[in-house]
Amino acid sequence: MPTITEKILPRTPHLVTSLPGSRARALIKRDQALMSPSYTRSYPLVAAKGEGCMIEDVDGNVFLDMTAGIAVTATGHAHPQVVQAIQEQSARLLHMSGTDFYYAPMVELAEKLAAYAPFPKPLNGSCARVFFTNSGAESVEGALKLARYYTKRSQVIAFLGGFHGRTYGAMSLTGSKIVQRQGFGPLVPGVTHIPYGTNASLAYLEEELFPRVLPPEEVAAIIVEPIQGEGGYILPEAGFLERIRRICDRYHILMIVDEVQSGMGRTGKLFAIEHWGVMPDLITLAKGIASGLPLGAILSRPSLMTWPPGSHATTFGGNPVACAAANATLRLLEAGLMDNAYHRGVQLQRGLTQLAGRFDQVSLPRGKGLMVAIDLLDAEGNLDARLRDRIIDHCFSQGLLLLGCGKAAIRFCPPLVIDSEQIQIALEILTKSLETVP
Ligand SMILES: Cc1ncc(COP(=O)(O)O)c(C=O)c1O
Repeated sequence: MPTITEKILPRTPHLVTSLPGSRARALIKRDQALMSPSYTRSYPLVAAKGEGCMIEDVDGNVFLDMTAGIAVTATGHAHPQVVQAIQEQSARLLHMSGTDFYYAPMVELAEKLAAYAPFPKPLNGSCARVFFTNSGAESVEGALKLARYYTKRSQVIAFLGGFHGRTYGAMSLTGSKIVQRQGFGPLVPGVTHIPYGTNASLAYLEEELFPRVLPPEEVAAIIVEPIQGEGGYILPEAGFLERIRRICDRYHILMIVDEVQSGMGRTGKLFAIEHWGVMPDLITLAKGIASGLPLGAILSRPSLMTWPPGSHATTFGGNPVACAAANATLRLLEAGLMDNAYHRGVQLQRGLTQLAGRFDQVSLPRGKGLMVAIDLLDAEGNLDARLRDRIIDHCFSQGLLLLGCGKAAIRFCPPLVIDSEQIQIALEILTKSLETVP
């Protein structure tokens, strides 16, 4: 086995072998012999160590990570305070199942999330109830169940381009890529997808669908990402989220905001929906919440969790170690990382805007905080997925880790600890790739 180096990693990329190196090649060969072919690895990174925004591979190459393990390691890889919280909690209590017993880290985390939740503040009592899960899909699945249970209605409205996860309920709400649904039917019935982000789409819902085919009295919920994630880091038109709130109020429909990707400080606020001042009824969380340990949450307005004991539970959700990691994560977000996400996001978008001015293949950037994307375009100005993939591959060969999303977008979702020099280096590597890649 190769030893994982204990040295402090450099803060900028440092490549020492051709890519993939020999150890990476050997591990990929073993992986390919038995891992599920449904995984989507875009380039041959074999990660061995992570520190802040840097990843070292098994051959000692060091990369600048603008992916955060798909928007997960909010506080950076192996933040010392998160690691310490995990170590201390795991030495004390690894598991007890929060659905059957009580323990402090879970309550502490629920109290913090409830204090932040963008729900109406009651005169007394908590402004939220919390259910902990293990993943984004499980959070969405639970929110869907709760919405149906509470409203006693069966129908749900979701958006084209939306991504909510891979389990049956979450997959049925997903409208992102056909490969994610094809061959898996029958899906959960009662889901209607409409276009995302435009007021015209909501007008179509109210003026065409409601009076003709979908009685609003049968709709339990509208589920929406405040910024579409996998769909391409798409921001909605002004007024879109506010209008969903009004529709929900008018017809007593629940508004579920899926913040699995956009939440936990990534956009510069704890919840992206706060940018619009809209108060949802339910929020789904996961990804960045515990800096890399598997944890998700459903936050609801207190009156909505009417489901009785035994109606919904999970063995591992809200595991004490994951909760301890999340408590440490929240402390770090409060202590400056949310602000950093905002400022580094402004810097990143400024740099990408300059690139868009210089290269016809690059669209203007979009996003908020450190949830930013650009599209790659062909000579006619059409989306060019193959060019996007070539650029991502080339950036990897230069020590920069990027991910695609949407049809032809590159997303930038680095750990929220990224500094201005690292943003600058990412922009420089991307610039060189745009100059080099045909
Ligand atoms: C908005 C959103 N919801 C749900 C999910 C599913 O999360 P998980 O992969 O943890 O099940 C994702 C994952 O990308 C997501 O971006």
